[in-house]
Amino acid sequence: MVYRVIQWATGAMGKTCLRAVIDHPDLELAGLYVYSAKKNGLDAGEIARRPTTGITATQRIEDILAIDADVVLHCPLLQLPYSAHDEDVCRLLESGKNVISINNYFFPPALGDAHAARLQASCLAGGTTLAGTGINPGFIAERIAAVASGLCVELDFVTCREVYDCIEMPNANYVFGVMGMGSPPGKLDLKNGPLAQMFGAMYRQTVAHLAHLLGWTLDDIEADHATLLAPHDINARAGKIEAGTVAATTWQFHGIVQGKRVITHAVNWIMGSDLPGFESYNHWDIAIRGKPGIDIKMDLVEPVDASVKTRAAQYGVAGAVVNAIPQVVAAPPGLFNAPMPPTFRPHLAPPFSSP
Ligand SMILES: NC(=O)c1ccc[n+]([C@@H]2O[C@H](COP(=O)([O-])OP(=O)(O)OC[C@H]3O[C@@H](n4cnc5c(N)ncnc54)[C@H](OP(=O)(O)O)[C@@H]3O)[C@@H](O)[C@H]2O)c1
Repeated sequence: MVYRVIQWATGAMGKTCLRAVIDHPDLELAGLYVYSAKKNGLDAGEIARRPTTGITATQRIEDILAIDADVVLHCPLLQLPYSAHDEDVCRLLESGKNVISINNYFFPPALGDAHAARLQASCLAGGTTLAGTGINPGFIAERIAAVASGLCVELDFVTCREVYDCIEMPNANYVFGVMGMGSPPGKLDLKNGPLAQMFGAMYRQTVAHLAHLLGWTLDDIEADHATLLAPHDINARAGKIEAGTVAATTWQFHGIVQGKRVITHAVNWIMGSDLPGFESYNHWDIAIRGKPGIDIKMDLVEPVDASVKTRAAQYGVAGAVVNAIPQVVAAPPGLFNAPMPPTFRPHLAPPFSSP
């Protein structure tokens, strides 16, 4: 079967998805949405550095809604508030197109029944499915940790830790505005500020989704965030991080059952790998404690060819997205439940035994 695909946004992630669609024999590019006026009207091939496709980029959602397609790959920049893209996504779903997002919709029930019901209603109105995927959120906890738990006869807790060096990220608005790097000490409100709310909404879905897959009912998800200040000026690609301003953030969440932390999900974004505490690391560490305990260390390997600008993380996100297309298109209308190999099956009451 050939799937007709609309690409929504062409940043680093979106362009990697766009190339994956153009290059794949089972995928046919059906439309292209862009935000930038400079890209409006260009052929998709020109944006993707590929031969002419005959598909022209548009800034009008109405053009996209009118296209007959199986799925929209929704890859815009994260916006404040986190719900900023909901209206567009609901319109896409109601127009009869499945949607796969890299920013949201990983596990909507985590953000409240009303939110999940609104998205579900749009799916049912259009006969469509809504999915969110990527590496983190989308894969590390929800796929790798969950699948590894299938080896366990008892499970006490699962910790997933990301460390990602953002020093080469080019987009200053994103690095300083959305990630909070370069903020003066104390300015980022790690409890109730807009970034805490946005990343909270994002990664609470990860924790709640993993708990759901493991059959655990969480009593609560606690946030426990931190920042690290630059010990010296840092010349990042997006601009200068002044000494004494934020040079690393830790967005950390704990899933709680009966007063115990049974899931910890920690996302460390750092500006350079010489910051104290981050001198050496894996991109992702998963620690499962139970019977048996399991440690998983995961890194992505950058392309060997130095002329290739696409980074491993961009390939990884694009892979998660395009590989999900057949399952998302085939799924019944509603919020997507990705098929999984067997995961840990909880005892009636979680044992949480000592190791
Ligand atoms: N799930 C995961 O594992 C994962 C991993 C990494 C990143 N992400 C997400 O991917 C997103 C995109 O990252 P990227 O590296 O592609 O960013 P980027 O290279 O900085 O690209 C910027 C993108 O933002 C679009 N844009 C411009 N104005 C916008 C607006 N007002 N609202 C929304 N989008 C706008 C641009 O559209 P055009 O250029 O097409 O005009 C472009 O596609 C990030 O926000 C992040 O949340 C997810």
